Amino acid sequence: MKITVDAEACTGHGRCYVVSPDLFSSDDEGFCAERGGTRDVPSGHEGSAQLAVDSCPEGAISMSDR
Ligand code: F3S
Repeated sequence: MKITVDAEACTGHGRCYVVSPDLFSSDDEGFCAERGGTRDVPSGHEGSAQLAVDSCPEGAISMSDR
């Protein structure tokens, strides 16, 4: 499973790194530091990834099986 944060869609709500600090962090301006990238979700962190997807008001986070 992979997770992607759309750099254009992220406006810095900051919920992702609050609900899923194992996967996301804040940059100096409060945006998701992982925005603009796609990476593998480590085994056992799928639930946390789903929480982050559900938490973002902008729908900036998405998951895929590829
Ligand atoms: Fe950005 Fe959404 Fe997180 S707007 S900071 S990806 S909650």
